Amino acid sequence: MVISKVILKAILPVVILGILALAFFAGQRPSSYYPVPLLKSSCPPGFKLNENNECIAKNLYNQYATTNKAGVGGLKSALPEIRDGFSPQEIDLGRYLFFDPVLSVDNTVSCASCHDPNKGLSDGLAVSRGIDNNKLKRAAPSLYNVGYLKKLFWDGRASTLEEQMLEPLFSQIEMGNTPENLLRTINDIENYKKLFAEAYPNRHKDEPILLKEITNAIAAFQSSLVSLNSRYDQYAHGYDGALNKNEIEGLNVFRSFVARCAECHTPPLFTNQQFAVIGTPEPDGLPLDPGAEIPFNDKSLRGAFKVPSLRNIAQTAPYMHSGRFKTLRETVQFYTDGRGHAVPDGENLLIHWHIWEPNLTDYELDRLVDFLKTLTDESFKPKVPEVLPSGLHISS
Ligand code: HEC
Ligand code: HEC
Repeated sequence: MVISKVILKAILPVVILGILALAFFAGQRPSSYYPVPLLKSSCPPGFKLNENNECIAKNLYNQYATTNKAGVGGLKSALPEIRDGFSPQEIDLGRYLFFDPVLSVDNTVSCASCHDPNKGLSDGLAVSRGIDNNKLKRAAPSLYNVGYLKKLFWDGRASTLEEQMLEPLFSQIEMGNTPENLLRTINDIENYKKLFAEAYPNRHKDEPILLKEITNAIAAFQSSLVSLNSRYDQYAHGYDGALNKNEIEGLNVFRSFVARCAECHTPPLFTNQQFAVIGTPEPDGLPLDPGAEIPFNDKSLRGAFKVPSLRNIAQTAPYMHSGRFKTLRETVQFYTDGRGHAVPDGENLLIHWHIWEPNLTDYELDRLVDFLKTLTDESFKPKVPEVLPSGLHISS
């Protein structure tokens, strides 16, 4: 009894002080109390550091380049140029920004809320939700291999990663911010001042952080999200055992002139980066999404969407711009249910000539799904930061 009273007397002041300290810190912007580690000085996997402190993409497909830097010919691979050459520090700073909800007006939504590494860099929803649970019009695409893409968004309305991200940042229903408020917030956070000085060593130390530095860092991070090492890739590089019999049958259906999937979803990116009208259904009761007709101001593109990459497709249900199909089986079934079968009445779409009536059997559709599941590669899945420079917590 006596002993416990003594102990109580001894620890009581500590407890009270602790509570007071917590109350004090809780009322402050927590940024300066969460020291973040130095930015990484090595490149993410799949990239090699050159003598100029630039990360250069390196993968097995590069060895089939049509010509190398010396102009010597090799085998052809359809892998386009990736955006690379960012420094390890720019990429790592971009990673912090990508996961930090401080970029949204009310500190609730980060890029990762809708592009979650645990959901194939998508969000598992038919259509995404922004601040205040606002409903967006379309499904969130995976961000794997976006560094290779020439047009962004389902309808191709952005041409660079930097241009693309201005929309979620400043849309009233996504992250709801304004450029002025975003810059004020970031420039107020000691941790970010320190990290931007590390990532951009040539900037003057008293100069405020600029929007183009924020977008450059996030673009650098996104370009590092590469998926080119799936079991399919191992098979393509010559390791026969990487796919089983059913999966190889599925690959053969995929490439066949009957199914014609590979005409649009062309390996190794599994997109030819073109726009196609294929006539997928909208959710019940919703009118046709005009797609690429709007940004390109071209009637022939009414209902056209960018051919999406199928990389990590098993992780990003539901499918299509509308999130209309819940499973891969439903999605592949669409292609054999008849050309234009889901086009709303009164719409006269110019459906792509590769969309036809291939009459695939149930067996072939099951094998296609088996094959699509071999396109998963998480070896370069980004690491979620343990602490955020803003001191906020990661919600997703
Ligand atoms: C509220 C959910 C949400 C947030 C937050 C969000 N996105 Fe997205 N993102 C989407 C949706 C939905 C689309 C597709 C919209 C469309 O095509 O009209 C998309 C498209 C993209 C694309 C185009 C991909 C492609 O294949 O064309 C990129 C790149 C991207 N987002 C990056 C980001 C970055 C970077 C951030 C943070 C600055 C961010 N997103 C924040 C939902 C979100
Ligand atoms: C004419 C070009 C074309 C052909 C051929 C084609 N696709 Fe597609 N595919 C698209 C387009 C465009 C979309 C996006 C349509 C939308 O969102 O409404 C798409 C979407 C998909 C999706 C969903 C992707 C996602 O991220 O939600 C899957 C899976 C798919 N296709 C598989 C296939 C398979 C399997 C075949 C062969 C049976 C095939 N595609 C043939 C153009 C094509």
